Amino acid sequence: MEKFDWYNLPFGYIKTDYNIRCLYKNGRWGNLETSSSEFIDIHIAATGLHYGQEAFEGLKAYMGRDGKIRLFRWEENAKRMIRSAEGIKMAPVPIDLFGEALFRVIRLNKKFIPPRDSGAALYIRPLLYGSSAEVGVKPAAEYTFLVFVTPVGPYFKGGVKPVNMLICRDVDRAAPQGTGTFKIGGNYAASLRALVAAKNGGYASSIFLDAKEKKYIDECGPANFFGIKENSYITPKSESILKSITNMSLMEIARSVGMKTERRQVPVEELSTFEEAGACGTAAVISPIGKIFDPENNKIYEYCRDDKPGTLTMKLYNKLVAIQYGDEPDEFGWITIVE
Ligand SMILES: Cc1ncc(COP(=O)(O)O)c(C=O)c1O
Repeated sequence: MEKFDWYNLPFGYIKTDYNIRCLYKNGRWGNLETSSSEFIDIHIAATGLHYGQEAFEGLKAYMGRDGKIRLFRWEENAKRMIRSAEGIKMAPVPIDLFGEALFRVIRLNKKFIPPRDSGAALYIRPLLYGSSAEVGVKPAAEYTFLVFVTPVGPYFKGGVKPVNMLICRDVDRAAPQGTGTFKIGGNYAASLRALVAAKNGGYASSIFLDAKEKKYIDECGPANFFGIKENSYITPKSESILKSITNMSLMEIARSVGMKTERRQVPVEELSTFEEAGACGTAAVISPIGKIFDPENNKIYEYCRDDKPGTLTMKLYNKLVAIQYGDEPDEFGWITIVE
């Protein structure tokens, strides 16, 4: 077997031994199949290629110090994938089938789950796409569901560090009544111009505003936004952002440690009132925000003194990570042990 430097893993793709596939044909899902190929054979007229009939998910399996493998809130990912599928007229993957595929792919690739000390984890990527041929614009009759895994290093090597973000005013990720709330490839394609521009400018990500009025914060590239002030965790309510499972979980933790939580529209001007701010998602859990730059008025919003993340941000982060790895009891019932 390959020897992994678990402590220096990138946040990228590394080949593992197996992936799982399943086909939807004649109105029903078939059996799960195990494959050791990294490639798929796809029809040249598949709707997944031409009309963006494609949805995906992202979650992690964590190896605890006790040697147990933990999955975090996987049913929420299963439900979100059903919503994404319905949102673009694909056959949804039933929750049980989704779970069975996850457990099987994790067990088969157990040797790729990084040890607790490395801060790394096994990233799991379920994918669903229209696989039968259509030339007119309409939903496919057949679908392919597959799940692959890859070990990923911690997002922040050497500890959590604040990042800078750029407010984006010339690209919209999603239309107000469009598909922004679904986890589908088209939204990511639409975000790339802005993300590349932000990266080229030295920022970790762009912050998208509501597409209609450009008045409110939507989300931070592939992560939700939150601000903290006066012991309150505040996160945008919008019909065009992805409902982050990390964000939902941080809100529950915030309430459990005596903070208030608000999900409501967050006007750009309010950025000047936050004591702490961050981006949250499966990849990094929380990326604390050091500075946000608004190119419209050259305004800079600053959150982290001495380049250190805020105390409440770190309190929420530490608690969530401890639950995910099993360092602390699963008081919210979020963990499934993979036997
Ligand atoms: C657009 C977008 N927003 C937010 C998130 C964070 O969601 P989650 O916490 O479920 O990973 C992601 C990542 O999945 C994303 O792609």
